[in-house]
Amino acid sequence: MSRFFSSGGNSQNGKGDKSDLVRPLVSLSNSTTNYRVNKQTVSIDPSNAQISLRHISKVFPGRKGWLNKLTGQASSDFVAIEDMSLDIEHNTFVSIIGPSGCGKSTLLNIIAGLSSATSGEVLIDGQIVDKPGSDRGMVFQNYALMPWMTVQGNIKFAVETVFPKMSEIQQKRIVKENIQLVGLTGAEKKRPHELSGGMRQRVGIARALAINPQILLMDEPFGALDALTRGFLQDEIERIWEQQRKTAIMITHSIEEALLLSDRIVMMTKGPAARIDEVLDVPFPRPRDRTAVEEHPDYLKLKKEMEDHLYRETRAVEEERIR
Ligand SMILES: Nc1ncnc2c1ncn2[C@@H]1O[C@H](COP(=O)(O)OP(=O)(O)OP(=O)(O)O)[C@@H](O)[C@H]1O
Ligand SMILES: [Mg+2]
Repeated sequence: MSRFFSSGGNSQNGKGDKSDLVRPLVSLSNSTTNYRVNKQTVSIDPSNAQISLRHISKVFPGRKGWLNKLTGQASSDFVAIEDMSLDIEHNTFVSIIGPSGCGKSTLLNIIAGLSSATSGEVLIDGQIVDKPGSDRGMVFQNYALMPWMTVQGNIKFAVETVFPKMSEIQQKRIVKENIQLVGLTGAEKKRPHELSGGMRQRVGIARALAINPQILLMDEPFGALDALTRGFLQDEIERIWEQQRKTAIMITHSIEEALLLSDRIVMMTKGPAARIDEVLDVPFPRPRDRTAVEEHPDYLKLKKEMEDHLYRETRAVEEERIR
């Protein structure tokens, strides 16, 4: 059985283990979910989960004149996600992959509290999520920085919003620490238009981390970057994650990126009515480096499995489009 679903509550992550902080779920605590991990059906014990998705569905009401991203046709109600359940333990790094338009951002936005599920619920430490909260830090694909504010200003704004009673000195200290953490020292006074894409993304990561969230949510954080910058930032995220061990959920289209960073990879089917097809357990030891990961005996097998999944689902999308 995967270590993520063990009922004993002992994370094997080593340092930063916060499994003793796990509180029992207050809702649906007796419901167990079955899904497939590494080709085996696993019955999940939800009492060990930090994040629990319970039968999440999302239906977008149809609007006249609007085209569906997936089919290119005007549509009535659109079922983006159907009956998706997942439990995520503390201190785990989870990646979500799936064909374009399958509902990954929709799911992440529901977890972030930026959007609500049509049915089902998201629980964090047993509490139902119905709005954004400082327990979740979000890194957006398009950076979402305030263009008139400096690097420092963007991060400080988030800190002030979440910790309004904190002293100015302490707020500044947090801003400085997080600028250092992502390697932006020297660029504090620059505005977003003066930064490269990689630097903007670092500001987005620093801003998310500065509010000290328990959970880091990232929607294709490196999607807009060139391969080299992307590689550097992946290494940075791995380094920061080793230090902080926050629970992380990252959407990515990159198989290599998911394998480098994740403990688990959630593979979504195509939409409409997307669901979880399979969850892969990534057994590579930590701390990780690229070469060691690529040389691990399971690397090629997992990579092939993900490639096959993406190819199959994307081909099915194309076939539907042609029909
Ligand atoms: N506000 C909305 N109204 C109607 N349909 C929507 C809305 N937002 C998303 N959708 C539809 O829901 C489906 C899932 O969209 P979503 O953006 O979650 O996909 P995704 O997996 O993140 O795609 P990508 O990989 O391209 O970022 C798409 O078919 C999209 O057209
Ligand atoms: Mg998306």
